[in-house]
Amino acid sequence: MVKFLIAGHKGMLGSALMRQGKIKNLDIVGLGHEDMDITDEDSVRTMAGAFGERTVINAAGIVRGGDESKMRETNTEAPGRLAKYFPRVVQISTDCVFDGKKIGGYRELDLRNAEDVYGRSKAGGELNQHPHLTIRGSFIGFGAGGFLDRMILSQEPNATINGYTDWIWNGLYVEVFAKGVLEVAQLPMTGIAHISGGDLSKASLLRMLAAAFRPDLTVVATTGGRKDMVLRSDFFTGQRLSGMIGGGMSWNAMIRSMQDDYSNHPSRAVPGK
Ligand SMILES: NC(=O)c1ccc[n+]([C@@H]2O[C@H](COP(=O)([O-])OP(=O)(O)OC[C@H]3O[C@@H](n4cnc5c(N)ncnc54)[C@H](OP(=O)(O)O)[C@@H]3O)[C@@H](O)[C@H]2O)c1
Repeated sequence: MVKFLIAGHKGMLGSALMRQGKIKNLDIVGLGHEDMDITDEDSVRTMAGAFGERTVINAAGIVRGGDESKMRETNTEAPGRLAKYFPRVVQISTDCVFDGKKIGGYRELDLRNAEDVYGRSKAGGELNQHPHLTIRGSFIGFGAGGFLDRMILSQEPNATINGYTDWIWNGLYVEVFAKGVLEVAQLPMTGIAHISGGDLSKASLLRMLAAAFRPDLTVVATTGGRKDMVLRSDFFTGQRLSGMIGGGMSWNAMIRSMQDDYSNHPSRAVPGK
């Protein structure tokens, strides 16, 4: 059985990986920022001394805020440092390594052409050499300051929000993405792999989320966002993909699961707390 170490285990994805690993009875250890700073060589070396036989799933990173150099240090340089000290690293990357201008979706080997600092910093940190693996995807969950929080949960009462019909995306609920990451990380795969769900517009997603969590909000369908952030896979197709992402859950099913989690575990709304 593969032994895992989750770097950044208190973040939105890291905490979902810990929960899903526990459900699957995996041998999994989590380290937070205070246990192992992935930008600090001594810290990584020390933890490799203690857990050096483990496959690292690197869910540590800077998603927003912070200065450019910190983002580069954390997202671009640190994954290589982990790969220097641990036998295998599964790096978590993002659809944001692409600019969203291509129609029809991005495949694993497409040119990474992000125009923004975050996307470029993540592209630079991808590990694709044997025995390492980079998993790209996108997800939503209850993390403070994340998409769901900003667009829905923190809105003023009865607010009106714009939902772009021409911004297409195919991410997953973070718990489903985490389950997929753990399944793929157990395969002897190297290179880049995409994990994604069904295509939908940001307008449809926001409508479903508002209906589930904030029925007082009005989502107005609008255009002008033109982005196609859809990830396609040359590895996971048909049955294989369905197995990988937990039975190919529809967005309706994922939103029901989010509602259950939100009412049963409200503390997950603030990961790490
Ligand atoms: N959110 C998305 O839609 C998305 C999509 C695709 C890929 N990703 C990638 O997935 C990863 C996790 O994202 P997330 O949404 O779960 O972010 P998150 O909730 O902000 O979690 C990131 C975690 O990384 C930790 N961290 C930051 N710098 C660190 C360092 N130098 N050493 C160790 N830990 C550090 C943070 O700890 P502190 O808070 O204590 O600093 C935090 O616990 C990121 O690499 C992100 O780029 C995210």
